[in-house]
Amino acid sequence: MDRKEPKLPSYVRETTQPRAHRRLSRGLRFVLAITLSLVALQYLRLYSAVLSSSESVHVPLRAAEWLDKCQLLDAQPGPPTDFNTRTHSDRFVPGTKAALITNATIWTGGDNGLEVVKGDILLDGGLIKRVGIVDDSVLERYTDLARIDAQGHWVSPGIIDMHSHLGVDSIPELRGGDDGNSFKGPIVPWMRALDALNTHDDAYKLSISGGLTTALVLPGSANAIGGQAILIKLRPTADRAPTGMLLENPYEQNRSVYDPHGHFRYRQMKHACGENPDRIYHNTRMDTAWAFREAYEHARKIKDTQDNFCAKATKGDWAGLGDYPEDLQWEALVDVLRGRVKVQTHCYETVDLDDLVRISNEFKFPIAAFHHAHETYLVPDTLKAAYVHPPAIALFATQARYKREAYRGSEFAPRVLADHGLQVVMKSDHPVLNSRYLVYETQQAHYYGLPHNLALAAVTTTPAKVMGQDHRIGYVKEGYDADLVLWDSHPLALGATPQQVWIDGIAQLAAPHLLSKPAAFQKVPHTPNFDKEVKETLKYDGLPPLEPTQAKSSTVVFTNVTSVFLREEYSVREAFSADASGSLSAGVVVVRGGQLACFGSASSPCASSVRAEENAEFVDLEGGSIAPGLVSTGAPLGLQEIDQEPSTQDGYVLDPLTESVPEIVGGSGALIRAADGLQFSTRDALLAYRAGVTTGIVAPQTRGFLAGLNTAFSTGAHHKLEKGALVQEVGAVHVAIHPVGSPSVSTQIAALRHLLLGETRGDVKEWFGRIRKGEVPLVVEASSADIIASVLALKAEVESKLGTALKFTIIGGSEAHLLAKELGAANVGVILSPARPFPNYWEERRILAGPPLTEKSAVALLIENNVTVGLGIREIWDARNARFDLAWAALEADGALSKADALALASGNLEKLLGVTADSLQGDMVVTRGGDLLEFSKVVAVISPRMGVVNFV
Ligand SMILES: *[C@@H]1O[C@H](CO)[C@@H](O)[C@H](O)[C@H]1NC(C)=O
Ligand SMILES: *[C@@H]1O[C@H](CO)[C@@H](O)[C@H](O)[C@H]1NC(C)=O
Ligand SMILES: *[C@@H]1O[C@H](CO)[C@@H](O)[C@H](O)[C@H]1NC(C)=O
Ligand SMILES: *[C@@H]1O[C@H](CO)[C@@H](O)[C@H](O)[C@H]1NC(C)=O
Repeated sequence: MDRKEPKLPSYVRETTQPRAHRRLSRGLRFVLAITLSLVALQYLRLYSAVLSSSESVHVPLRAAEWLDKCQLLDAQPGPPTDFNTRTHSDRFVPGTKAALITNATIWTGGDNGLEVVKGDILLDGGLIKRVGIVDDSVLERYTDLARIDAQGHWVSPGIIDMHSHLGVDSIPELRGGDDGNSFKGPIVPWMRALDALNTHDDAYKLSISGGLTTALVLPGSANAIGGQAILIKLRPTADRAPTGMLLENPYEQNRSVYDPHGHFRYRQMKHACGENPDRIYHNTRMDTAWAFREAYEHARKIKDTQDNFCAKATKGDWAGLGDYPEDLQWEALVDVLRGRVKVQTHCYETVDLDDLVRISNEFKFPIAAFHHAHETYLVPDTLKAAYVHPPAIALFATQARYKREAYRGSEFAPRVLADHGLQVVMKSDHPVLNSRYLVYETQQAHYYGLPHNLALAAVTTTPAKVMGQDHRIGYVKEGYDADLVLWDSHPLALGATPQQVWIDGIAQLAAPHLLSKPAAFQKVPHTPNFDKEVKETLKYDGLPPLEPTQAKSSTVVFTNVTSVFLREEYSVREAFSADASGSLSAGVVVVRGGQLACFGSASSPCASSVRAEENAEFVDLEGGSIAPGLVSTGAPLGLQEIDQEPSTQDGYVLDPLTESVPEIVGGSGALIRAADGLQFSTRDALLAYRAGVTTGIVAPQTRGFLAGLNTAFSTGAHHKLEKGALVQEVGAVHVAIHPVGSPSVSTQIAALRHLLLGETRGDVKEWFGRIRKGEVPLVVEASSADIIASVLALKAEVESKLGTALKFTIIGGSEAHLLAKELGAANVGVILSPARPFPNYWEERRILAGPPLTEKSAVALLIENNVTVGLGIREIWDARNARFDLAWAALEADGALSKADALALASGNLEKLLGVTADSLQGDMVVTRGGDLLEFSKVVAVISPRMGVVNFV
């Protein structure tokens, strides 16, 4: 730690007489001594007289400036008093046309998120001028008005992300732009995100296209006190500079945190506890807690010195006071103690939450919010014990378990916290999650039980309040900033996509591509009941048992079924639909011994085949559905429990391209099998099973080139030797080609050419022999179109030499759309991973963004070119969300993809592309209640023919 000691006021003497050094006679010295004594006595008398009369004290030159500061010592932040009557926004761009949005269904944010107004919205001067009925007399004033017919669609306030690293961890991620953290010590309140904000981050326009208008850009979490965050609006500004993006521009343009009228604006500060600061600074939790306390004690002393200074200075008691005590390094932390800073605290685990709550009470400052905060739902009373008010909680929806402190994370946390009356915010931690899809986070929170009014508030009004900005953003109300989103569905409906986004009254989408959404998507989505799961989650301290339970009787009859989707080899078809069957009553599905026996309408022979003596178990699906079990791939599901804990994982293979593989493993002939490292009953696998993902296909983990042999396993099995646990021991060979500096991409391609055409040995020889014969797919992980093109050229080269057609699959594929035609012609399938692209790295910066930015999504374009497409994931927590990824893909394809086709993207297509042979196909079926697998239904059971059972989940 390199910190300065507090700068104590320096007491400056006004004059000091030089001492006389003359040699004097004894007598003279005596006389002088007497005289001096008398003078001194006289001086003392005079001095005390001066002290008692304040008029005659010396007033310092900077007294006026210091008295100003003293006067504002207790001033609290907030908008200027005349803010409500402002006629235009301080961010108004002259020349912006006024706009009238007509016939909108407006979620205003008012009435605790329950107010909905049908009508019009007038935007002018960068502000919302009218909401509801706009009188003609008002409109007459406008000669030039942009008119937008919302056609009854939903309008919400602009989406606010309370936890973002936009611009400081900008994308594509490059070494030159890694500005998220200072690494100069655990306590750096003097760092400012504004000093690092990159205005060229590719993510701004992507995030805007998802409805995001405002973001709190925080320094990273390497430090306990990481520095000052900034609130920005995402639109490009005329000055092209970071300063222009500030929400409260121009008041923070320079060091003065108050505007010329003496109005403080809330500042925001990043704190972090737990694993990150501990890891970066080799601290323990005790060290980090002390780092906080030492820093706050330091700030407290400065604050006290200021208070004492001002108490005297305001009385005119300047004597001996010296300069106003302040320190540029510590002023922001002193401001925290003065209640002017919203403390945004990255903090996960009970012990850390408790530490911070105690520190907030010890030093008397409120915590605005705990972020990530995966254990907050377990300790509501601890939160309520924080100084002045309980912190708000800013969460991910389903991203959890990636490190120990996230292990007890629950999808039910938003709902549980809301039940305790705590404020819930959904956030992205962009680029950890792509903030373009922040609304998807809140859709999921709603799905898992957060009431709809609070779910929408969680990305609009609640963060606005928590950040002290609810006077200008977060609502569709007169006088608020003109930041709005016009949606193509209810914003909580899965896949909700903006048709237009306004920031400061300026439309952000130049030529939006609109999707047509089903009528049912215009209403607040109906969501399942998870009361039982919530109870279990709390009972087991966040780690409820997730294993399925077998049906008691061997015959299970599912009633009130609206659709049945069946596998046919690798494809999926809709075999039954209540509507198509022409019967109003829904269908019946009979399962005997874990096998689908029959299905049909309620009056079909299938329904009457159920005999009374059969002792069948009846399950009402309330308009539910049966669909093929889904497959997850792309992440180490089944090879890892906690991403950041090596002791919970299979680990990484040795890479023969960069290191020598020991002979005992087989040297350069070694090919590692994922099946040998499988772990069963991991929480992410079981959660995936409960969400309809019944198979994982996983390759060995590599940090280099040659991964090894994949394996397909059942996500619901207890161990590898259980019946049906292994779907197929080996399916395909995996390699990865990425630009990593050394070895070069061309070296990696050369290695692949050698493996395909050169002399090899051992398992490598055997499996590449099978690839050469076209029996086994070669799966190449690649993102860049240039690398994919080289792989396609290599495939053609090898095929022409060998005269056989090879099976190649690309996984990753962010830029694959650029080669859609060539991939289709070469019969090379693509597993898009992630399902919706994000240009995280340079090699994947040329994404096809999809609607509303582009007409087609990558999925749709590839399919149009006859490419077999699968959808994958990058991190294991995401396995459970496969069904929602499929729904997005279908919605974004805008009619080009049936539900059956969409289901194939994460079932048959993946199995085909990853070498699961048809005779290994397991035929798991997923049973949902209250809708089909692509809707906000609930998975209630898995029919498992291979295990011969029906499992309830
Ligand atoms: C508003 O939009 C809805 C849905 O398109 C339509 O039915 C209705 O007629 C429209 N109302 C007006 C006043 O245009
Ligand atoms: C700081 O900002 C305020 C408010 O914009 C302005 O009045 C003042 O002149 C600025 N001071 C400097 C030194 O730039
Ligand atoms: C099927 O479920 C729906 C939705 O819960 C319900 O309204 C309907 O009454 C049910 N039909 C039958 C025949 O049980
Ligand atoms: C895709 O396949 C269909 C059917 O085989 C064919 O008619 C069509 O021309 C193909 N499209 C492309 C882009 O190759």
